[in-house]
Amino acid sequence: MKGGPRAHGVSGARALGVPARIMACAAAAVVALAALPANAQGTKPKPASAAPAAAPAAAAVPYRQRFAEVCAACHGANGRNDAMPGTPALSGQHSFYAITQLFLFREGRRENPAMTAVAKGMKDADMQGFADFIATLPPVPPTAPATPNDAARMTKGQALAQEHKCVFCHGADLSGGQQVPRIAQQREDYLQTTLREFKSGKRPGYTMAMSAAVSQISVEDLDTLAYYIARFPAGTPGK
Ligand code: HEC
Ligand code: HEC
Repeated sequence: MKGGPRAHGVSGARALGVPARIMACAAAAVVALAALPANAQGTKPKPASAAPAAAPAAAAVPYRQRFAEVCAACHGANGRNDAMPGTPALSGQHSFYAITQLFLFREGRRENPAMTAVAKGMKDADMQGFADFIATLPPVPPTAPATPNDAARMTKGQALAQEHKCVFCHGADLSGGQQVPRIAQQREDYLQTTLREFKSGKRPGYTMAMSAAVSQISVEDLDTLAYYIARFPAGTPGK
């Protein structure tokens, strides 16, 4: 996996300063999505004065606390909440990936009512603060499934992940790196939905990487991949 796309991403992202990273996200999103129909982006962003009067004080509150207050209800205090359907685990996720997704939500380039509402009011510094805090959360394993893994489905999922080069970008241990997300042990329902959305174009991504990766895969095989990735055995890369 050394020398793969994620290896380049790590050094590239580290070399950039904070504002430059935001700009890189913006530029990547604009370039990759230029072909999409323009939506109501013509309106100027609301001035900071639209924020409640408490804003200056809030800025001094550490992101750990803001995460606990704003995000934990859905994502869990440790970044994983298996009781909340459709809500991805953020624990173990990379800062560069997280900030890019927050940017896409804020700009209306990735659609989800809850996250659009959350990201809408964020300044660039907030996205950076939340993303950096998320990156400090160690991966949290899923709660044990009620039924044992279907061995045949796991084998099929592993073969699909090799065949379709998922491991090339996401790594043999599916832990990703910088702009390539960790996917190992992500929630199955979320994986299912998001893979289908990459295929249908509902989630365009900030690069074409994922739409290209899944365009030729049947929905049935995508579901098998979701099954396998959600149950990915920790500590045994490629197995
Ligand atoms: C009301 C519930 C809710 C709250 C509150 C919430 N989120 Fe989310 N978040 C979601 C859902 C649902 C998704 C998945 C959206 C989708 O399917 O596109 C998501 C997705 C994300 C993602 C993308 C993850 C990925 O794997 O692509 C990030 C990053 C994120 N949230 C960060 C935050 C942060 C930071 C906060 C607090 C400032 C927050 N969220 C608050 C529900 C919530
Ligand atoms: C060419 C590199 C590349 C390949 C091959 C690839 N991915 Fe990805 N993947 C990415 C990137 C980059 C993203 C971030 C998407 C974005 O927002 O643009 C991503 C995002 C994802 C996500 C979303 C994670 C989240 O938290 O929302 C899932 C799930 C995923 N990939 C699964 C897969 C699977 C399964 C395969 C194999 C069929 C695969 N990927 C192949 C690069 C790749």
